[in-house]
Amino acid sequence: MNEKTLVKGKIHYVGVNDRNKHLFEGMWPLPYGVSYNSYLIDDGQVALVDTVDACFFEVYLHKIRSIIGDRPIQYLIINHMEPDHSGSISLIRQYYPDITIVGNKQTFGMIEGFYGVSGKCLEVKDGDALPLGHHQLRFYLTPMVHWPETMMTFDETDGVLFSGDAFGCFGTLDGGFLDSRINLDKYWDEMVRYYSNIVGKYGNPVQKALAKLGSLPISTICSTHGPVWTENIGKVVGIYDRLSRYEAEEGVVIAYGSMYGNTEQMAEAIASELSAQGIKNIVMHNVSKSNASYILKDIFKYRGLIVGAPTYCNQIYPEVNALLEKILLREVKGRYLGYFGSFCWAGAAVKRMGEFAEKSKLELVGAPVEMKQSMKEATYEQCGNLARAMADRLKQDRNN
Ligand code: FEO
Repeated sequence: MNEKTLVKGKIHYVGVNDRNKHLFEGMWPLPYGVSYNSYLIDDGQVALVDTVDACFFEVYLHKIRSIIGDRPIQYLIINHMEPDHSGSISLIRQYYPDITIVGNKQTFGMIEGFYGVSGKCLEVKDGDALPLGHHQLRFYLTPMVHWPETMMTFDETDGVLFSGDAFGCFGTLDGGFLDSRINLDKYWDEMVRYYSNIVGKYGNPVQKALAKLGSLPISTICSTHGPVWTENIGKVVGIYDRLSRYEAEEGVVIAYGSMYGNTEQMAEAIASELSAQGIKNIVMHNVSKSNASYILKDIFKYRGLIVGAPTYCNQIYPEVNALLEKILLREVKGRYLGYFGSFCWAGAAVKRMGEFAEKSKLELVGAPVEMKQSMKEATYEQCGNLARAMADRLKQDRNN
């Protein structure tokens, strides 16, 4: 028995750390890296839960063999098919040709489509059980968290939930993997960033999954990214619950673009007045410098959002436009929205941000501010009015 890999009962951690990749999904920075978690249940029937990115297969196989030696694996349970977890399915099948792949109706077409793998498989339905010996597994379909085939596997013997991406976060596991044995500081913000970037659009399916799993006696959460949760289950489930309800703290994100600093001065004037009005959480992002990943994280964190952009080629400044598209894609709800913009000879940014405001269905506060070329007394006054309207709206919630 290798104590260093043991999670609980006969369940072992066999995941890997990726400190090489710069951008997750080709978009989201990984300053602390990311782990791809997989679990091996060394029971009467041996089962592997999810796999890892194929680049790490040699390390992964070594971890598996250090626990079970040359013994076979009976089951490969696939909770989620995104290739950061399914990438080693084909190689696992090559090394363990008799393995039975366990998935739901949505899973097997994807396995064949991505990897050309078919053969021995076991299709499970919501609530089906799979006894392994000591551990008894039960499957819960949780579609669209955040792909259609996503499901979770619950070990009824020891209360261990294999949750797929749910409750996961960015950040490698440096040394230990149990939350009780590692410093968790870096993971909390990385959890919000992971959720808002990857899962953000799917608040309703996450809520349905939480309702479905709510009555299970969960002692341990084994996600596919980040720590194994034992001591912090209430906190972690609470974070996912709040984020998927689009609940947020009092505060304002000011996300703006600026080529020569004039539009930025509008942002500064708004921020200054927000502060004067007693709003403490003000996060300013120059979209040309802040990666959208972090701006989205803060938008999921705070209730106020003020966006600003110069006019560029008769459109919204493209860097801001790209952010607005990402906000729309996530169908962010429950935010108060204000906007401002500028132009040199013909205004377009403010008008087009009005179209964004309509599409977003967010609650508009204050009058949009439009500036020609540079700040005037009137612009300061209008920016102050917008800030006061936002502060007033946020303060109305203080008594709720
Ligand atoms: Fe970590 Fe949705 O894959």
